[in-house]
Amino acid sequence: KRVVLAYSGGLDTSVAIVWLKKTYGCEVICYCADLGQGEDLDAVAKKARASGASDVVVVDLRESFVREFIFPMIASGAVYEDGYLLGTSIARPLIARAQMEIARERGADAVAHGATGKGNDQVRFELAYYYFDPKIRIIAPWRLWNFTSRSELINYSKENGIPVTATLEKPYSVDRNLFHTSYEGGILEDPWVAPPEEIFQMTRDPRTGPETPEEITISFEKGIPIAINGALLSPLEIMEKANTLGALHGIGRIDLVESRFVGMKSRGVYETPGGTLLHAAHRALETLTLDREVLSLKAQIMPQYARLIYNGFWFSPERLALHDLVAHTQHRVTGDVRLLLYKGGIRVAGRRSPYSLYRKDLATFETDSVYRQSDADGFIRIQALRLKLYSDQEGAAP
Ligand code: ARG
Ligand code: SIN
Repeated sequence: KRVVLAYSGGLDTSVAIVWLKKTYGCEVICYCADLGQGEDLDAVAKKARASGASDVVVVDLRESFVREFIFPMIASGAVYEDGYLLGTSIARPLIARAQMEIARERGADAVAHGATGKGNDQVRFELAYYYFDPKIRIIAPWRLWNFTSRSELINYSKENGIPVTATLEKPYSVDRNLFHTSYEGGILEDPWVAPPEEIFQMTRDPRTGPETPEEITISFEKGIPIAINGALLSPLEIMEKANTLGALHGIGRIDLVESRFVGMKSRGVYETPGGTLLHAAHRALETLTLDREVLSLKAQIMPQYARLIYNGFWFSPERLALHDLVAHTQHRVTGDVRLLLYKGGIRVAGRRSPYSLYRKDLATFETDSVYRQSDADGFIRIQALRLKLYSDQEGAAP
């Protein structure tokens, strides 16, 4: 029997290799997704082999992560519970999709992952597994084994010859990719206690950012970022460049309490430097190019879009439907946005588009030839009709 395990190189998934082999008498193929987590994946692969994997497959998913997942999400404007830009949520369906391809190629009997039974990630992985193969057998070791603490996992590693990494495990859980880094658990579990400055891996302390604001230009075509400061770049290059700019100014840090799909509240600390810039610029361009009612419609569906990404329904009929709706709204979201970056803050300094709906001749208070001020008279009187009826019945407003 053969299992494909989503392997990170951490303690949990290393223990999972040995545990799977012992429990099921199976062969374990480790699969590592490269999502720009900034780790040495050769070392990770080596560790998988040393821990007993029969084979290791490393897949570079960075370009598709940005093109197929991050950019469409930015076009939708999705933000969960007013702050979380969904950096972990958006990666899970892609990790699962590539894992299922490997499982099929290798004729695997099951797939496995290292997410716990208390979180969102298990749901996101498994909903995607079922989407790609409704009959797939899924093994979630965390929901099955009897380990209850990290020290038990470490002991088990030592007993079973699993190399325990020299670098000390951090006292909190980290998930990093091209879009963001998340920190939760451990010392961050008290929502009253601020995250220590030294946890942040991507951004510098906003207070130590440059003393003069930096102006940058982000260009979009049909809602998708295509250039920064005039240089046409690939999606991956855009993401990397935006991260570098955001990181320098300490942009995109957030500390929140969020509602997990499985029911509990959890405290999360995030840094999304480039993503925060792209979001702000995209939003600014939409204010110029989208019709009022289309903007409002997008604002109404946005929380639902965010919730379904958070809850793991990326591969679902409702997400595909929303995707098409958003894509339709983006046909004229083309143009440039100037942003000022300064010590953790972003200010929009300018925006322009060949499809701008902004017309100086309409907005101006100077004389114009297209708008007849006398028309406003009837417009307002008809708008007031209801208010007059209400007032007549209720008497004067309190
Ligand atoms: N709370 C965030 C989310 O649900 C981040 C999860 C981080 N996952 C992890 N395995 N460290 O999307
Ligand atoms: C986990 O439970 O493995 C991480 C946290 C989460 O998925 O929400």
